Amino acid sequence: MTKLVVGNWKMNGSRSLIEQMVETLKQEVLNPPLAQVAICPPFPLIPALESAVAQSSIGVGAQNVSNHLSGAYTGDVSVSMLKEFNVTYGIVGHSERRSYFGETDELVQQKVKILLEHGIRPIMCIGESLEQRESGEHEATVLYQLVEGLKDIAADQIAQCVIAYEPVWAIGTGKTATPEQANQMHQVIRTKLIELTSEESAKAIPILYGGSVKGSNAAELLNQSDIDGALVGGASLKPDDFCQIIRGAS
Ligand code: 13P
Repeated sequence: MTKLVVGNWKMNGSRSLIEQMVETLKQEVLNPPLAQVAICPPFPLIPALESAVAQSSIGVGAQNVSNHLSGAYTGDVSVSMLKEFNVTYGIVGHSERRSYFGETDELVQQKVKILLEHGIRPIMCIGESLEQRESGEHEATVLYQLVEGLKDIAADQIAQCVIAYEPVWAIGTGKTATPEQANQMHQVIRTKLIELTSEESAKAIPILYGGSVKGSNAAELLNQSDIDGALVGGASLKPDDFCQIIRGAS
């Protein structure tokens, strides 16, 4: 499948970075497209991104969504609001949301469901802590998050999801999982997805790797058999670095 490279800007960026990033991507890596590319900026920058990417293949994504449809939920943003701005991807269950905002697997599942019901592809993030890896619980942890996050969701809906494996110890630390470590976990995830859907569907579900992906390690990671793309934090804020990662995907 064509690789999918997604930039997660977290709480960074500006209108001017949107302009600069989209121009650079168009010139450097989108003619012809070397990968499928999407950017997930903070909510207030989504309208600017939507305008900037018009007539290009760049997708617009959000970093979060409310588990409610509308109502008295101060500070939340609903799925229908995202739809109005042509958002096509929604990150859910990022480890920063899980650890700083107390998001549980149950809440992650509700968000996955609400996005799917409205035709937005969830990018569901799962990943173990260093402690869990060191005690040999990494696979069990990741599979638990996967199964709980997709609980009670029909197989044909699961087939619309994107899964991002982001080991918590590799996020923003400069420490990357080795290509072999990452690929092995992706295979474990794929095997579970086959159980939850079918072999054919599971093979078409993009499983992204995230955690200190940079221009210098992207090609090696993305060349692995079960790594279908990358979810990029820090390096997605620098147009040249992000382009280099996308080149590594081709
Ligand atoms: P870094 O690429 O900055 O390590 O962040 C990864 C991440 O959390 C993407 O969602």
